[in-house]
Amino acid sequence: MIELFDSHAHLDHERFTEDKNEVLERARENGVQYILNASGDPISCYDSVALAETEDMIYAAVGIHPHEAKVFTEDTVELLRHLARKDKVVAIGEIGLDYYYDHSEREIQRDVFRKQIRIAREVGLPIIVHDRDAHEDTLIILKEENAQDVGGVFHCFSGSVQMAREILKMGFYISMAGPVTFKNSKKAPEVVGVVPEDRLLIETDCPYLSPEPKRGKRNEPGHVKYVAEKIAEIRGETFEQVAGYTTQNAKRLFGIND
Ligand code: NI
Repeated sequence: MIELFDSHAHLDHERFTEDKNEVLERARENGVQYILNASGDPISCYDSVALAETEDMIYAAVGIHPHEAKVFTEDTVELLRHLARKDKVVAIGEIGLDYYYDHSEREIQRDVFRKQIRIAREVGLPIIVHDRDAHEDTLIILKEENAQDVGGVFHCFSGSVQMAREILKMGFYISMAGPVTFKNSKKAPEVVGVVPEDRLLIETDCPYLSPEPKRGKRNEPGHVKYVAEKIAEIRGETFEQVAGYTTQNAKRLFGIND
């Protein structure tokens, strides 16, 4: 039986309000057994935990996205500490740096990233890293904050093969999303070719980044199979193999034993 793990979704997004049950049903029909719902702001942290508590297949990550770093306060630290101790919260994220949109000042983004790595170390959970156009600073902060002690994953990885090698050396996982299926995609397929089998994850980042052949439409967890199919094609493996090891990897990283 095929078991897929969508390691990064945003099912609390308003675009799923109307038909979440149908979306989850289609996910199951397409072989998805596990979904990690990532958070971005305090409200979505609560919503992710509530989703995980009502749906067996959903697990939660809690954290503040770099876009929202400007709203981070001491109260947020307490909130994350509190939610991180709940049973189905298995990671801190998504956290990191986004120098493409710059929705929060860079100095604030860096400070909030560091603070959340410290929380992850304190509660002993891996981190979900969002890095857009900020590769150098992301690596510096991960190293200075000893993030390798808890490990984690670079979600929707967009760096080069050289950067991939560096983060693999630190013990991190690499997750691939819809862009690897895009026809103009160059770096992502190269990276897929060099990541060891025991370090690769797959995700949708839904409702964003729908893979081919669903590009341009709302994304949903059932589409993660297209990412697995593309990886199988690039690596000369079967879909079943890719589904198998990416699911095992995600379960190992997030400490899910069932
Ligand atoms: Ni995301």
